[in-house]
Amino acid sequence: MTTLGPHPAHGPVPGTMDEGDWLDAPVLLDRQTAVLELIAQAAPLSDVLTEILRSLEGLMPGASCSVLLLDRPTGRLHHGAAPSLPSSYVAAIDGLPVADGVGSCGTAAALNRPVLVPDVRLDPRWADFRDAAAAAGQQACWSTPIAGRDHRPVGTFAVYHRTPHTPTPREQRLVDRFTHLAAVAIGHAELVADRRARLEAETARRTAEELSRAKSQLLAAVGHEARTPIQAIVGFAELLGTIDLDEARRREALAHIGAAAGHVMDLLTDVLDVSRLEAGALPLQVAAVPVAEVVEEVLGLLSAKAAARSTILDQELPQDGPTTVLADRRRLRQVLLNLVENGVRHGRAGGAVTVAATRDAGQVVLTVRDDGPGIAPDLLDRLFTPFAPGGTQPLVGGDSVGLGLALSAGLVHAMGGELVVGRTGPGGTEMRVRLPGP
Ligand SMILES: Nc1ncnc2c1ncn2[C@@H]1O[C@H](COP(=O)(O)OP(=O)(O)O)[C@@H](O)[C@H]1O
Ligand SMILES: [Mg+2]
Repeated sequence: MTTLGPHPAHGPVPGTMDEGDWLDAPVLLDRQTAVLELIAQAAPLSDVLTEILRSLEGLMPGASCSVLLLDRPTGRLHHGAAPSLPSSYVAAIDGLPVADGVGSCGTAAALNRPVLVPDVRLDPRWADFRDAAAAAGQQACWSTPIAGRDHRPVGTFAVYHRTPHTPTPREQRLVDRFTHLAAVAIGHAELVADRRARLEAETARRTAEELSRAKSQLLAAVGHEARTPIQAIVGFAELLGTIDLDEARRREALAHIGAAAGHVMDLLTDVLDVSRLEAGALPLQVAAVPVAEVVEEVLGLLSAKAAARSTILDQELPQDGPTTVLADRRRLRQVLLNLVENGVRHGRAGGAVTVAATRDAGQVVLTVRDDGPGIAPDLLDRLFTPFAPGGTQPLVGGDSVGLGLALSAGLVHAMGGELVVGRTGPGGTEMRVRLPGP
């Protein structure tokens, strides 16, 4: 005859498990997997903790659970998750100081060991929280510290009951399991936060470095750009000093000095504008500006330059009445001057540059197109960077300062719009300015 009974290899081992554990095991595994999946999906810590507490509440009918998180610098416990406790109670204990004698949780965190209070009405450590517990309908509270990576508490795991209660061995084992799971979730969240903080610090450091490098480059480029016209000024001034200079050559020298000085002036004005833009200190007078008037001014100012390259300047404005934009008139003119001038200078000699305006959902889109060779592909990603290496032209034979597009983009942005390259290639270039309508 065979005696039926639990085989030692399969049944509960006395002292470590009882019947309940075997019933709990598949549920535990299931809940644990659900929690680990949430952690793997990078769910917010409060969601992971809520899942943990709900799982435990499902296994311990009648219990309400909460996790408080320790803020180490202040030594206070703050709400982490408490899916089935009233929010008024959660608010009442938020900010609980960690100290021996402050409820179950404050004491558990202070002593770094579980604190069991079978009846909060009778325990002096609950004197300050008795009313809040009564209002929440809770009478027993058992709090377990959650161990951090350094084995010091990072929070507390509390189990509440509506009637006086002392945990059973099964409940103790369950709470141990879930407290451990909460420790894993909090530790993971800390690691993620640490990594993010390190990344942010690294990014900030690199941005500062890049900014400082860009500033040095800008300074070097400005110096380089100013050198040639100043040398011209010095040279022609010396020439003027020679005694037997005929009138025609004297006037020529003066014209050269005037042009070179004007160029240095323009350069310095642009540099000043760029730095004021970067500092957010460029005053703008935004008003409704008639597009046709500004386009007329710009094309007029550039007509001589265009004629010198046999370039035709053209405009296509809406025919159904005047178009206005919200902009600073002087700055809008500066932007269009730069774009049209780029079209003339970098476009095809004998070609055409057209300024067009269209209205689009309360905004105005101004486009400047040319039929030139297009912007060099290697310039495209740094077109809007002041003095991008390779973006500056030698001054001799030209009047480039290499700041135009960076400044234009910054100005348009400051006026609440954007400047983009609409299209560029062997068929020509189209620059697009989008600005708010009135
Ligand atoms: N319409 C265009 N067609 C071809 N290349 C262009 C055009 N506009 C700008 N570029 C290129 O982009 C560079 C930067 O332009 P910009 O910032 O206005 O400086 P700059 O005109 O003073 O050189 C120019 O030097 C030129 O190489
Ligand atoms: Mg330019």
